[in-house]
Amino acid sequence: MNENLTTAAAAMTAALADPAGAPSHPAIFLVLGVVTFALHIAAVSILLGSTGLALFARYKATDYWLRLGSTMAFTAKAATGAAIVLGVAPLLFVQVIFDPFWYASSMLSAVWTLVFLGLLMIGYLALYRVHSILHTQGGENKGRGAVLWLAVALVLFLACGTLMHVLSNQALFPTHWLEWYAPEGQVDTSGRGLHYVLIPRLLFFFALSLPVTAAWIYGMRRWVLSKSHQTMEDGLYSDFLEKVAFGMGRTGGILVVLLGIVWMACLPSEQSWFLLSAWPYVGLIGALFFVAMPFIQKRRRLCTTCNYMAFVMTIVMTVLLAAVREALRVGTLLESAGFNPMNLAVHWDVPSLAIFFVTFLLVGGTALAYIFISAWKAGLATAGQPGAVWTPSAGLERLGFWASTLLGLWIVGYFVVGFAVVLQ
Ligand code: HEM
Repeated sequence: MNENLTTAAAAMTAALADPAGAPSHPAIFLVLGVVTFALHIAAVSILLGSTGLALFARYKATDYWLRLGSTMAFTAKAATGAAIVLGVAPLLFVQVIFDPFWYASSMLSAVWTLVFLGLLMIGYLALYRVHSILHTQGGENKGRGAVLWLAVALVLFLACGTLMHVLSNQALFPTHWLEWYAPEGQVDTSGRGLHYVLIPRLLFFFALSLPVTAAWIYGMRRWVLSKSHQTMEDGLYSDFLEKVAFGMGRTGGILVVLLGIVWMACLPSEQSWFLLSAWPYVGLIGALFFVAMPFIQKRRRLCTTCNYMAFVMTIVMTVLLAAVREALRVGTLLESAGFNPMNLAVHWDVPSLAIFFVTFLLVGGTALAYIFISAWKAGLATAGQPGAVWTPSAGLERLGFWASTLLGLWIVGYFVVGFAVVLQ
């Protein structure tokens, strides 16, 4: 690597660094960044997988496919919301510890950073259009108009993923920023460039959507089998779901392994050190799990816990892959800009750390627990019985009370603290 460029990159990123440093130990942010990125990419995978599957279902157009397609179109909408919310969290952590890199990359492609938001909004609205078409045109079977909007959503979401990839990837190569910012000495402040796509890396993340969505469908299959009112149809439908999940999981797992290998073979020179480390083998464990998952499920098809565990283990393995991805970033920035997040100045800010964890665990935890438990129990008790009414237990009512009270207190606290700071 060119020594002068590395020294210049080190000086530049040191000048861009926020003098406020980190509000607590950088390791906390690294771990939170890895975990929340894993959750983000899991939600993104379900979003892409379910949108794709809903589209494919319209092409197959049998009764079971259309039933699955309708459920997947609904899932895609919820997954988009989850992917957006779970995207904000790693964004915060990236900004705290890798701010000069993320900032520079966003400036180099500033126009696309804004275009990303527009594409995401149109994609999300397209899914609402799908929902209304499926609802008004005879529910599950007839909504042919949905095909166009599903295709629009899928293309736009893939474009969003590509832009995210470029922003992440450009941030890793500070020694190239000057040639991107001022090609042949001509400064280009337009922010219209997209400078670095590493196709195997991008496809690796897209391919994850197949096994992750397969794991989700294994959970759905078990859920269908757990409903209080079982019909013969439910049994046949759950067999169909199992077949779909197996095919998707097996093909997807193999693709993930192959693309992982191609990604490693195509690493640029700044990242060649990575191949000499143990990290690619750690990543291989995660990728091989996805190949094994459908076969494990086949052997454990009657085990309720194992069926749900497919998704839990999928999250564990995405955390593993996210850790490998983070190691690649930390090592690359150390090599090319001498940047080590562990050396960031720490100015402890305990109140902001406490507010973060209290908000995350208490406010978010109770609200999410209430919503998930209610949706789960209401679904199991009423699915397939039009007009059936579900009554929550006293314990769940209490959880709901605390979820809304804590949220209310948080909102009041937010304004009280805000006014106190502004008026002091
Ligand atoms: C359809 C919507 C989205 C898709 C398909 C998508 C996809 C992706 C992919 C594939 C990556 C990994 C890129 C790589 O490492 O090469 C990624 C990273 C990331 N995404 Fe998303 N994303 C979406 C929406 C969002 C949103 C709305 C946010 C923020 C509010 C967000 C925040 C992030 C962050 C912070 C990273 C990691 C950046 C880093 O570690 O350098 N994403 N996303």
